[in-house]
Amino acid sequence: MNKYRRNLIGILCSIVILIGISSCFNNKPEQNPRTLPTSLNKLYPPVSGTEPVWLNHMKELAYPYEGIMIDVKENQLNLAIEHFNKMKALYQEVSHLVPEWTKLFPQEPIERLGKALKSGKIDEIQAAYDVLGRVCFDCHIENLPKVQHKYAWGQFHLLLVSDNLTNDIIKFSQYMKFMGMSLTAVSIDLEEGQVEQARKHFKDFNARFNNLESVCKNCHRKKDPETGISKVIKRKYFVDENIQTQVALLGQLIETDQPDIIKIKQVSDEIATDSCYKCHLVHVPATYSRYKWNEH
Ligand code: HEC
Ligand code: HEC
Ligand code: HEC
Repeated sequence: MNKYRRNLIGILCSIVILIGISSCFNNKPEQNPRTLPTSLNKLYPPVSGTEPVWLNHMKELAYPYEGIMIDVKENQLNLAIEHFNKMKALYQEVSHLVPEWTKLFPQEPIERLGKALKSGKIDEIQAAYDVLGRVCFDCHIENLPKVQHKYAWGQFHLLLVSDNLTNDIIKFSQYMKFMGMSLTAVSIDLEEGQVEQARKHFKDFNARFNNLESVCKNCHRKKDPETGISKVIKRKYFVDENIQTQVALLGQLIETDQPDIIKIKQVSDEIATDSCYKCHLVHVPATYSRYKWNEH
């Protein structure tokens, strides 16, 4: 390799390394999600009553937005323009709901789509429509998960439950820790030959697990539109009959004279995956977002 090429490679490597280092330094601390505009609070329960006002406006906005393209594809330009006019009015209205977000609803893309529709040129309409769609998407990728974590997922991080073993009122996370420890303790004690201890831990686990379903109704309710009474929605998964059968099987296995530790660990693992882990996949991310934002 000649000297010139070696130098060139050296320079290229340094550039790559420098870009790497500078991107480390440039990594802005993640925008603090608490900077979600406080004015959003009044658009969501409990401040707004029972309605998720912002979400309702979004759905209203999406309807004519999609209507535009549906009619363009069906060659009904006049109807498409009607949808556009409705959408433009809603776009202006929504842009003022949260003053901190007004700038995220730029005028230029909407004007461009209006002009393209008037021109009737399909390519221009499609391009302008995509640019406007990007306005929606850019805000969604940044703010939608945060808004959902904050307003749609309930308040697990603040949930208190009655511990049916001690009758104490404790944090839900503490209840989880107790329950998790008992389940692990079954295997650990069996491995150490302490069968009676293992049986006691199973009893504690079983009692807390059977009580877990009562926690779900804190959030899983639906208002009957006719009577206005909120009813508990029976849960599938995580605490349903399939898992209860597994827990009962674990109980039988541990009560035999010579508990089969391999089989017991296998059933424990299934419970830990199908109940614990899968429920965590659904409910923990939103809960941890709230902790991260110090909302406790
Ligand atoms: C509602 C569905 C749900 C089910 C079912 C569930 N968990 Fe949890 N678990 C959660 C949530 C939500 C958290 C986070 C709570 C918090 O930090 O405030 C959590 C947290 C935990 C923690 C961490 C507690 C801490 O603060 O360190 C443990 C341990 C745990 N769960 C064990 C279990 C075990 C073991 C099972 C199954 C036998 C189980 N969980 C079943 C929802 C569930
Ligand atoms: C300034 C931010 C912002 C802009 C701009 C925006 N949205 Fe949204 N949108 C949101 C947020 C935040 C949510 C989540 C609301 C919730 O779940 O409570 C949402 C939710 C939605 C939903 C419901 C999604 C679902 O999962 O059901 C639709 C539909 C929607 N937006 C359509 C649009 C359309 C169409 C546009 C553009 C014309 C648009 N939005 C522009 C912030 C924005
Ligand atoms: C702090 C509030 C809260 C609690 C407590 C809670 N969940 Fe949920 N869960 C939600 C929300 C919000 C969703 C999103 C969809 C919805 O509202 O159904 C959800 C979704 C689910 C889903 C998937 C969608 C569905 O509705 O089937 C399952 C399954 C589920 N939860 C099971 C449980 C079980 C089992 C428990 C009790 C052990 C539980 N949840 C406790 C808030 C909660």
